[in-house]
Amino acid sequence: MRALLMWLHILAGVVALGGGIFINFILAPAAAALQPGERLGLQARVIRRFQPTVLICLLALILTGVLFLASVFSIPGYGADVSYMRLLTGKLILVAVVLVLSLYQYFRLGLPLATLAEDPSAADKAAKAQPLARRMVLVARVNIALVAIIFYLAVRMTRG
Ligand code: HEM
Repeated sequence: MRALLMWLHILAGVVALGGGIFINFILAPAAAALQPGERLGLQARVIRRFQPTVLICLLALILTGVLFLASVFSIPGYGADVSYMRLLTGKLILVAVVLVLSLYQYFRLGLPLATLAEDPSAADKAAKAQPLARRMVLVARVNIALVAIIFYLAVRMTRG
């Protein structure tokens, strides 16, 4: 059971981080060659599929993480390991920041951008979408960096 939970925990992290890296550093530059209207349509479809996936992955990470914590703290003396506790605290603070940024990215940036892109009556869509898209790229890159650091803290936590 523990192995299955760890598998799910790591898989959810890999999907969120790997998907973010693929979209930002491979798909987005490749899509730069498209016409502005086509690019916006692609962005909207990616947002509608990928951003909820990231939120589901974060939920899975939190749920499986809480179950790990319950089992870790049932081992006598585990809570006394100061370095483990420091790394865990740092990791949880970063997870909270990533969660807030991901919710902001989806509800305040991604959904408005996708709605604008899909509105057949909206004029000058590409220009209106630009500030939202620019902020999304910034938030996405900060999140990618934070999740990469979380991976490092997680590995340090368990493997020293
Ligand atoms: C973006 C979010 C997260 C990522 C990418 C992540 C990643 C990981 C990884 C890769 C490991 C395995 C480390 C190894 O075996 O070397 C791990 C272990 C662990 N994670 Fe997370 N994690 C995340 C969120 C959380 C949260 C929210 C919690 C707690 C509520 C948590 C609690 C734990 C615990 C307790 C372990 C170690 C279990 C043990 O000592 O065997 N994680 N995490």
